[in-house]
Parts: sequence; structure tokens; C-alpha cells
Amino acid sequence: MTSDFLVIGSGIAGLSFAIRAARHGSVVVLTKGAAIDSNTAWAQGGLASVLPEGLRDEGDSVELHIADTLDAGAGLCKEDVVRTIVTEGAATVDDLLGYGVDFDKEGDHFALGKEGGHSKRRILHARDTTGREIAESLIEVARRTPNLTLLENHFSIDLITTGKLGSVTEDRVLGAYVLEKESGEVKIFRSDRVLLATGGCGKVYLYTTNPDSSTGDGVAMAWRAGASVANMEFIQFHPTCFYNPAATGPEARSFLVSEAVRGEGGILINSRGEDFTRKVDPRGSLAPRDIVARAIDREIKRTGAACVYLDVTHKPAGFMRERFPFIYEKLRSYGLDCEKQPIPVVPAAHYQCGGVLTDVNGKTTIRGLYAIGEVASTGLHGANRLASNSLLEGNVTARRALDDILHHYQVQRHADEAPDIPEWHHGDVTAPDELVVIYHNWDELRRLMWDYVSIVRTDNRLRRAATRLRNLKKEVREFYWGHRVTADILELRNLVAVASLVVDCAIRRRESRGLHHTLDYRGTDERFLRETVLRRF
Ligand code: SIN
Repeated sequence: MTSDFLVIGSGIAGLSFAIRAARHGSVVVLTKGAAIDSNTAWAQGGLASVLPEGLRDEGDSVELHIADTLDAGAGLCKEDVVRTIVTEGAATVDDLLGYGVDFDKEGDHFALGKEGGHSKRRILHARDTTGREIAESLIEVARRTPNLTLLENHFSIDLITTGKLGSVTEDRVLGAYVLEKESGEVKIFRSDRVLLATGGCGKVYLYTTNPDSSTGDGVAMAWRAGASVANMEFIQFHPTCFYNPAATGPEARSFLVSEAVRGEGGILINSRGEDFTRKVDPRGSLAPRDIVARAIDREIKRTGAACVYLDVTHKPAGFMRERFPFIYEKLRSYGLDCEKQPIPVVPAAHYQCGGVLTDVNGKTTIRGLYAIGEVASTGLHGANRLASNSLLEGNVTARRALDDILHHYQVQRHADEAPDIPEWHHGDVTAPDELVVIYHNWDELRRLMWDYVSIVRTDNRLRRAATRLRNLKKEVREFYWGHRVTADILELRNLVAVASLVVDCAIRRRESRGLHHTLDYRGTDERFLRETVLRRF
């Protein structure tokens, strides 16, 4: 299949791009599960943007939003990128309203929420299911957009580049090998303009707020194709994931209690009812996430407790039910009435702040290959993402990537000039017989990353993780080459690759900054006031 644009991923970034790109040529969007299975759809809090004068919180300004983003990023944000993306927030709001997104209102005005690190109320939201509202609206528009083909259950295995086919004079993208999950066949999708929008890698960790689809596929593919990757040490842990040892199933373990709950007055307390985050930061429960997650981690380790609590019992009766109906009902389904009892919470892996190295337009180091959204490292987030900046980034960079592509690459078919791409050969391999190998390695990897590479790190733990990952990688590689590809093998292969990138970046940063906190190097060190870039060649 040949198309002018090939988009991998169906969250806000991929679909915002695809819908616009379809005005200029044919677009194929591939997603490995159902279109709604994106990280976007799981976003609760909302989208940060300073609205025009008269509609914004008193005293708020684009400059203030920029300052908050830079402050959260702990010195590593690229200021020009922050400025561009934050300034284009108003266009994003218009764009999403145009797609039918229904943000909450108070009277005639948009209701604005607050989250950690924001000095003003500037989070647009749709109750506590903002991501779902955005994802459903975009999917609906995408499905009726002419020139756009949305293919579900299509798992992209690897990018095809001229470099991989042996060219030493140029490296440009040609398309991707893709597993059609239903038939088990591997097909070639050709395009000179490939956009990665595959989201993050939360599943690298044992505990995560992310959906099962977050297996780092885009970063792993781009890395194998030779693209540079940056800042993977900065994995954001969300402070408040519902803790319920009795609840079973992945959904229960990864249930997020939005930071917006703290924005509306929720307070983190320990089992003695003490507001322990105040001791660490005057902003208390609403300090930036890295600070709050570390304070929780410390409190749990100090007291030996299994969790801390998010207390909203002081809010008026009915408040939670009305403002956070999804969270309220979900907690009820686990037997907890949050209007009467504090919510047990623990931190969990939430967001990948680094990724495929790009400029503010999503351009990677491989010609024709773009990456936007969580998969990319544009420099917006630096060492720690400011809450609700990611939906904003996904949509802004989608517009910018398309403009950049249209500027650099004429939209015309290159089929005649394109080199032959060899068909995928399954070879003599057999169908996987011992699935236990996959599940065992999957569990080992996620436990290993949780124990050695999470909120607080040390050199020793990182080195240990690196050694174990080398063995895992070898085993997974043998399994991959010896068996027919399946979605499970592909995800495991990507998880191991991405985990190694996280560890490699973490080992290189010999300081504590933002989300990378190590007991061996207390505080920041000017020598590391730069991004960590891993280059393949
Ligand atoms: C939340 O609702 O707490 C998540 C918002 C975000 O991660 O940006």
C-alpha cells in the first residue's frame, strides 16, 4: 500500500496531523489496536492553554504559562520551543472546538482547572475524561475525512529506510513493515513521509497509569532505524495512582486519580493525617510532580506504609460526583466513597518526557521521518513535564509538522524513483510455542525497571539494571528471530529496547535534576545542563 503520508498512532497527535494532511494527499493511519486505545483517551486532567483576554484567569498570561513550564522543566526546556508551543495554544483550542470537542463551561466561559506547577487556572477540561472526549471527537472526524484510511489492528514492526536497505549516500524513510494482526501477514506500507505518533512507554514499569498499548514502539522503531533519541532518563511518575491491593486486573492497577483533584483542593496526607508535602515545598500537594512523587516515595519508605492518601472529604457533599464523575464512580466500584474516605494512592509511571529527538516541527534526524506527541523529545518538557502540556504539544506540533513537510517535500508519488523494498520473509521460523518465555521476560523487565530505575536511583542500581537488560535483550532477540512475529513478541522487543535507552540515558546523567533523582549525585551540576542525546551511528 502506498500513500502520501503514513501516520503511526491514533492519539491527538496522529489524528490532528492526519485530518489536516488529508487535504494535501492520501493518508494512511495505522494503529496496533482499536483507534480509541491511545494514551490520549486516558488523559483525565485536560489541556493547558491561556485563553484570550477576558476568558482567562485574572492575571494569567502566555508569559506566565511559559515561566511555569520552564520552572517545572528544571533548566532543560528549550525556551524557544516552549514559547512557540505555548503561544500557539489558542489555535489549538480553536482547532479542537472545530472538531467538536466539548470543553466544560461555567456560564458562557470555559471552566478552567488547576494542576501542579501551574500558577493560575488554565486547564480546559471535559469533566474528568478530557482525553476521551478529544479522542472520540477526532476519531469521528477522521472516519469521515476523505483521503484518510484508518487501519486498526495493524502493528508497525520496523521502519524501512534507504540506510537500512544499504545506501551509504542518503538516509531517508521509505515506509514500514506492518503486521496485520488478524491474518498474521506482514505487509509493506510505502510512504516518503512517515509520522510517528505512538505515545510513550509506561508499560516498561510494573506500575503505570498508562494503557497496555504504551510499549514504547515508536522510540524503539526510530532507534533501530538510526534516529537519535534524547532525555529518556526523564520518566514522569504521577503522584496519585489509586492503590488497592485487593483490586485485580490491569485497569484497577493503573487507575489514575487526576491531579486536577488536588487542583480543586485535594490534599495528600499520610496515615496519621499529616500534610507531609508541605515540609518539602510551600506549594504542598500542588508542587510540580517530580517533587510530590518524591515526597510520597520518601514518606512511604520512611513510615513503611504501603501508600499515602488523597483527602477530599472536606469538599462539599456532591462535589466529587459532579466535577469528577468518572473517578468518583470508579472508586465506588472498588467500594470506596471518596466523599467520606481518603483515597489510598501511590506514584506510578505516567509520562515519557524524552523520546525521538526532534525540532519544534517534529523533524527527526532521518529525512522524511517526523515524530510528534509523547514519542518525541522536542525540548518542551525538559527534565519534567508541566501537567496538561502534552495534549497541547500533540496538537500544535501536528500542525507544524504538516507545514514543515509540505515545505520540504512536495506531495507527489515517488513510486517510480523508490528503491525496491524486499518483502518480509518469515523464513523457517515456527509459531511461538513457549509463550511463557515472553510473559516471564515481560514481568522480569517491568519489575526490574520498577526496582532499579524508578523515582530514586543510584549508580549501582542502574548498572545492575543495565546488566540484566543485556541478558534480556539477547534472549528476546533470539526469540524474535526464531519465531513468527506476534504482537506480544513485538511489544516485548520494543519494551526491552526502550528500557535500555532509559537506563543508558540515566547512567550518563551524573546529577539530580527534575525527574532524574539519584542518591549518588545530590543536586544539579552545571556540566549536565544539556540534553542527553543517544546517537546510533
Ligand atoms: C492528570 O489528570 O493528573 C494527568 C494530567 C497530565 O498528566 O497532564
